[in-house]
Amino acid sequence: MSQVPIIDISGLVKKSGDLAIASQIGQACREYGFFYIVGHGVDEKLQQRLEELSRQFFAQDLETKLKIRMALGGKAWRGYFPVGGELTSGKPDLKEGIYFGAELGEDHPLVQADTPMHGSNLFPDNIPLFRETVLEYMEVMTQLGHTLMAGIALSLGLEESYFADRYTSDPLTLFRIFNYPPDLSLPDDEDKWGVGEHTDYGVLTILKQDNCGGLQVKSKSGWIAAPPIPNSFVCNIGDMLDRMTGGLYRSTPHRVLNKLRHHRLSFPFFFDPNFDVEVKPIQLSAVVNDDKQQRWDKASVHDFRGTYGDYVLSKVSKVFPELRRSVL
Ligand code: OGA
Ligand code: NI
Repeated sequence: MSQVPIIDISGLVKKSGDLAIASQIGQACREYGFFYIVGHGVDEKLQQRLEELSRQFFAQDLETKLKIRMALGGKAWRGYFPVGGELTSGKPDLKEGIYFGAELGEDHPLVQADTPMHGSNLFPDNIPLFRETVLEYMEVMTQLGHTLMAGIALSLGLEESYFADRYTSDPLTLFRIFNYPPDLSLPDDEDKWGVGEHTDYGVLTILKQDNCGGLQVKSKSGWIAAPPIPNSFVCNIGDMLDRMTGGLYRSTPHRVLNKLRHHRLSFPFFFDPNFDVEVKPIQLSAVVNDDKQQRWDKASVHDFRGTYGDYVLSKVSKVFPELRRSVL
């Protein structure tokens, strides 16, 4: 029975440079590209608040939610999209959600330079503490991202600050809150994916999910469930770490199917390289494993040349074609 491994990272959080934890992370990245973390120290009250406020937001009528629609976020790529508004592999997903990123003011140099994916967030003005809670959660996730990247560096036999020094000093952080409505079709209908099969773009995703379940991971032996585990996060490797490690650490395909009769909330946080950095292979002694034939989209992350910004924009424009036309 294949299961996504669970790793207690409390030693790493205490900054002890714990090699035993790093080696568990390394093994999980090679075998699954996915692992759960516990012992992460993220405040449960903060998480509960985030969940409650998100439920409040999605429970509103569509018109109210559209007051912060993505079209109003412009190039910064922020705001709400309704069910069917986002595509994975060209097909609409059965989910609605809100996109957030680092909160940057008009005077920030990257905003002044009109850089895509940089700017200020759209928050609902009728839900008190929503803004504060999301920004605090993103701050905590950013710290956790740095901690995990230190562990990942150690697991590759690199110095702890390898990624921070080269790639993630000013990480591109994206945060999404998704609401997957129940799939009310008959069981023998074609499966309607909450999110279709895909890989994530950057280095590391840290996902908080509610207690519904529905996340599936493509392991070497086939699709396996990654069910909710109380007070854990699901972490997975993205395309850029796959590229940096020559395929040693897997950017593993995953998907979501909500078969329950109630809504599923999830909170993926993406900790990704600095926007303008060029992502290059790390000189590792391991064998290069190009997975082009097996990859879900038949593309190879190893062929790609350019900055992380170029890569992520090419991806985002596929999931929101309308928006691409209007802002780029
Ligand atoms: C994603 C993703 C899973 C989930 O946003 O990339 O895979 O459970 N989300 O929402
Ligand atoms: Ni994903």
